Amino acid sequence: MMLVAGTKTSAMSLEWAFSNMLNNPHVLKKGMDEVDTQVGQDRLLDEPDFSNLHYIQCIIYENLRLCPPAPLLVPHVASERCSLGGYDIPSGAMVLVNAWSIHRNPNVWEDPLSFMPERFQNGRGDSYKLMPFGLGRRGCPGEAMALRVINLVMGQLLQCFEFTTVDGKEIDMTETAATLMVKITPLELMCKARPNTHNLLA
Ligand code: HEM
Repeated sequence: MMLVAGTKTSAMSLEWAFSNMLNNPHVLKKGMDEVDTQVGQDRLLDEPDFSNLHYIQCIIYENLRLCPPAPLLVPHVASERCSLGGYDIPSGAMVLVNAWSIHRNPNVWEDPLSFMPERFQNGRGDSYKLMPFGLGRRGCPGEAMALRVINLVMGQLLQCFEFTTVDGKEIDMTETAATLMVKITPLELMCKARPNTHNLLA
């Protein structure tokens, strides 16, 4: 469980993040600029840098909003009869939370289908609106680790490589409607080492 829940989700999230950034090159550039300004090219980005990488954090939240790796979270069972949003839920009923739909609800988010990391510039805000890791006692125990891993991989990739699409066309964002939100067309991109990458990795 730890291996499946802990690796595939973060890897998928990075694939969606780079797809979203390639379709929004101004976001990609702003992310690279932030890494260059806050970390530079003399050393490899590392965990202590995270607190200075505000825009990278915004990209990560915005990507988890539009592309939650577990769009229906994980099935829950009502341990006793209860009422939810005006519906009677009998004891023992399976409850699925459609986080994907909540994350794209225009009553909850402004311009919900646009990829706009800036909407998180003042932090995550009302945490009940953004729930890619679920909420409460059965929420994902790996949330903190996942955010760190994604931050580290995304930050170091932006620091070391320039990314472009293969053929100049928009990345296809079609997704599967399944337990995990998988890209139907796996992401293919071009990456070119930046001038100082060899020294950074030496
Ligand atoms: C982007 C990365 C990740 C996402 C989006 C994610 C999402 C989720 C979600 C939605 C749930 C169900 C929560 C609920 O039903 O309320 C969950 C459960 C779980 N996650 Fe994650 N997860 C991620 C990374 C990780 C990592 C890194 C680990 C461990 C190293 C992990 C371990 C688990 C485990 C063990 C559960 C089951 C918890 C339980 O049943 O009480 N996850 N995750």
